Amino acid sequence: MTVTTAPTARYRKDYKAPSFSIDTVDLHFYLDDTCTRVVNTMQVQKRDDEPDLVLDGEQLQLVQVTLDDRLLVAEQDYKVGRKSLTIYNVPAQFSLTIENTINPSANTALEGLYKSAGVFCSQCEAEGFRRITYFLDRPDVLSVYTTTLYVANKEEYPHLLSNGNKVDTGTTAEGLSWVRWHDPYPKPSYLFAVVAGDFDLLEDTYTTAEGRQVLLQFFVDKGNLNKAYFAMEALKNSMRWDEQRFGLSYDLDIYMVVAVDFFNMGAMENKGLNVFNSKFVLADEASATDQDFINVEAVIGHEYFHNWTGNRITCRDWFQLSLKEGLTVFREQEFSADQGMRAVNRIQDVRIMRTHQFEEDAGPMAHAIRPDIVVEMNNFYTVTIYNKGAEVVRMLHTLLGEQTFQAGMRRYIADNDGKAATCNDFLQAMEQASGRNLNQFKRWYSQAGTPEISVQTDYSRRQRKLTVTISQASDKPANAPFHIPIQVELLSQQGEPLHPPELPVNSVLELTEPEQTFTFTGLKEAPVFAPLANFSAPVKCNDTRSLDELITITRFAQDAFLRWDAVQQLYSQAVHEAIAQGGALTLPNALIDGLKASLTDGNSDPALVALLLQIPSEEGVAAEFKYVPVSAIHRAITELHEALARGLYTELLQAWDMHWPQATDKQAAFSKEAIAARMLCNTCLGYLAAMTDSEAVHERLQRQFAAEQSMTLVFGALQAAVHNQHRLAEVQLAQFANRWQHDPLVMDKWLAVQATVRHASSIAKVHELTEHSAFDWSNPNRVYALLASFSHNFAQLHQADGAGYALLVSAIKRLNTANPQVASRLLSPLLNWRRFNDARQGLLQQVLSDLRNMPDLAPDLFEKIEQSLR
Ligand code: ARG
Ligand code: ZN
Repeated sequence: MTVTTAPTARYRKDYKAPSFSIDTVDLHFYLDDTCTRVVNTMQVQKRDDEPDLVLDGEQLQLVQVTLDDRLLVAEQDYKVGRKSLTIYNVPAQFSLTIENTINPSANTALEGLYKSAGVFCSQCEAEGFRRITYFLDRPDVLSVYTTTLYVANKEEYPHLLSNGNKVDTGTTAEGLSWVRWHDPYPKPSYLFAVVAGDFDLLEDTYTTAEGRQVLLQFFVDKGNLNKAYFAMEALKNSMRWDEQRFGLSYDLDIYMVVAVDFFNMGAMENKGLNVFNSKFVLADEASATDQDFINVEAVIGHEYFHNWTGNRITCRDWFQLSLKEGLTVFREQEFSADQGMRAVNRIQDVRIMRTHQFEEDAGPMAHAIRPDIVVEMNNFYTVTIYNKGAEVVRMLHTLLGEQTFQAGMRRYIADNDGKAATCNDFLQAMEQASGRNLNQFKRWYSQAGTPEISVQTDYSRRQRKLTVTISQASDKPANAPFHIPIQVELLSQQGEPLHPPELPVNSVLELTEPEQTFTFTGLKEAPVFAPLANFSAPVKCNDTRSLDELITITRFAQDAFLRWDAVQQLYSQAVHEAIAQGGALTLPNALIDGLKASLTDGNSDPALVALLLQIPSEEGVAAEFKYVPVSAIHRAITELHEALARGLYTELLQAWDMHWPQATDKQAAFSKEAIAARMLCNTCLGYLAAMTDSEAVHERLQRQFAAEQSMTLVFGALQAAVHNQHRLAEVQLAQFANRWQHDPLVMDKWLAVQATVRHASSIAKVHELTEHSAFDWSNPNRVYALLASFSHNFAQLHQADGAGYALLVSAIKRLNTANPQVASRLLSPLLNWRRFNDARQGLLQQVLSDLRNMPDLAPDLFEKIEQSLR
C-alpha cells in the first residue's frame, strides 16, 4: 500500500501556551489574480526561553524576511519547511517583516485568499491564515491588525474591505489605489478577512441600547439588492435581541456582511466583516422558500452573536471549538424561538439531533463535544460540536433556569472578555453564578456517545403512589454516568396535568446515578408519565409505553415536543413491526383517527399538524438499527407514506382547501400564520401526490405549482410531484428549469429534488445532471445540492450492486485535491460500513481502501478513512 506521508494527529492534552506573542500585525496586500504580494510586519515578544520562532505557513512563496531592519539570510538565519518558517535565535522583542506571494486564482479549496467569480475573498477559520502569510496561526495568539489593500484598477474593485474601521485611502506613486483598515480589538488570525470586488451595497443604521450609531452594510452581487432587505432586518432584529435577552451590544461603528457565491460553509463571523454564502443572505418570496428565509435569519443571527461568543471571547485551542459554536448555536436557537415559532423550531432541532448527530455519535468519527484528538480541524465542524454542543448548553439552561444562566453568562464575560478561553472557563462561571457543583455535568464535554434512558413505572393504588425507576446506559462502555436533566409531565388518564408535591417546580428530575428511583404521592389513579419534555437531554429513550398512553400524550401533553414525539413513536413502532414480520405495515386506528381530527380541526396550529404528519426518513429509521436492513426500511417507509396518503385522503384534501386561502394571502406573506398554512399545504400535497389517479389532486398540484409569487408553494408542488413520480413531474421540472435557469440558488433546489427521489432511477439521474449546465464541480453549493443530497438518499446510496457508492466515490476522487473540505463532507455517509450486510460491507471496504490508496490523499479524507477502517 502506498500511503503518502500520513498526516499527524494533535492531542488536546498536549496544549502548550505559545512561546511568543504578536501584539500588532500590519498587512499590505498587493492584489493580483495569480500573484498577490503580501507584506506582513509583526511586533513580536518572547514569552519564554525558546530560542527559535516557528511560524505556520502553507503554499506560500517566500520573498524575503527582515528582522529589525536587517534582511535575513536563508539557511543561516531562517529555514523554510513545507509547512513552517523557522527563524533562528530571535531577540526578546523585535519587529519582523515577511514578504511572500500567493496565487488566489489557483485556490480552489476556498481556504486562505481566493479569487472566484470576480471577487477576492478570504476564509481563515480554522487554519487558513497560514495560506496568506507566515504566522502563529492559532486562536490563542491575539493581535491588533492594520490592513492595507492595493489594486491596480479601482473600477474593477470599487470595494476594498477588511476588519474594523476604514481609516485612510489613497493612491501610490505607481498609481495603485489603496484603502486602509484598522481593527482596535485584538483578535486571533482566524477572524481576519479581506474582500475586494464590485458589489451592490445596501446600507442602514442601528442605534445601540447605549445610543451609539452603527453603520450596517450588505455587499451583494450586482442586481441583487432587492434580495438583501430581509437579511438586513434579520441583522437589526439580532442586534436588538442580544441586547434585550443577553444584555450584549455591538462594539464597532460598522458591521459589514459580504455575500459570495463560492463558500464551503454557511458563513463566517470575521470581526466586523462577516462573509456569507449567498444562500444565507439573498432571499425574496418568488425565489426563496419560507425555510430559506428562516435559515437566513438564523445564520445572520448566528454570525452576529459570535461577536461576543467567539470574537470578544475566543477559544484557547481548536479542541474548545464548541465553547463558541455550541453556545452560539444555542443563542441562535433561542433567537429563532423568540421570533415566534418556538415549538416548531424545537421539533426541527430534535430531528437534526436524532437523524444526524446520533448517527455520527454511533459511527467511527464519534467524538465528544470537546474532542481529544484531531488530524484535520476542518473535519470537526460537525453536528456534534455544533448541535450537541448547543444541547449541552441548553441542559445547563434547563438545570439553572434563565435567571441564573444569565448571571453565569455575565460572569463568563466579565472574567474572559478579550481572552482565549476554554470550556472549563465557561463551566466555572456557571458554577460560580449558581453555586452548583458541575463536576459530573462536565462529562458531557469529555465523553462521546448517546446515553439511553429506560423508564419503569409502578403505581400503588393503596398508597396512591407512583414509583418511577429511571436508568441510564451508554453505547460507549468506558463512559461514567452522565448528569441528565429529565423534564417530565404527569397526566391523569383523562389528560389533566398533575403536579404531585415531590415534583420540582420546574418539573426537572436530575438523573445522576446509573439507576434512580423517584416517587410521587397523592395520586388517585395511575397517571401517564411522560419523560423528556422539550427534549431536555440529548439521549435516547427506551420506550415501553402502551398505545393508550401514547395516544393520551399525543392528545393532552402540554409540551408540543412530547405530543409530536408520541406520534413519532407510533410511526416507529409500525415501521419496526413491518420490518420484523416482513409483512404489510399497519397503523393503529386511534392514530389515524387522531391525525384526521387534527387535519380537520380549524383550531390546531397547522405548522404542528404538518410536523405530526412528517414521518421518519429512511436515514432516521436506519439510525435506530445496529444492523441496517436497507431494503426492508425502504419498503416500510414507502408503505407508511402510502398508508397515510390513502387513509387520510379526504382529510388531506379538506385541510389543503381549508389552508389554501391563508397560504396565498398576499398581505400576510411572511406572517407566522401564512408560513404555517404553507407548511401544511405542502405536507398535504406531499401525500396526496401519491394518489396518482385522483383528478382532485392533479388539479391542486397544478394550482399550487402556478402560485408564482411563492417559491414555498411552487417548490412544494414540484417536490410533491417529483418525489411521488406523479405524471406532472416531468412537465413541472421542465417549466421550473426554464423559468429559473438564470438563478443558480433556485436551480440548486431543482438539482436536489431530483437527487432525492426514492427510486433506483435517481443514480442515473444524478449522473446525467452532473453534465447539466446548472451544475458546476467548482461551486460547493452545486455539489452539495446534487451530491450531498444524493448521499442522504439512503436506500439509493446503499443500492445492493454498489452503484450508489461508485457514484459518490467518483465525486470524492474528483474533489480530493480540488476541494478537500467538500470531498470530506461527501465521504461521511460511507464510513459506518460495519452496520451493513456482508455484501455491502465488502463493497464499502473496497471503495474506502481504493480511496486510501489515492496519491495526494487529503488529510481530511485520510483521517476519516483511517478511523473507519481501523
Ligand atoms: N465559524 C463559522 C460558523 O460556524 C464556521 C466556519 C468554519 N469553516 C471551515 N472551513 N471550517 O459560523
Ligand atoms: Zn458558528
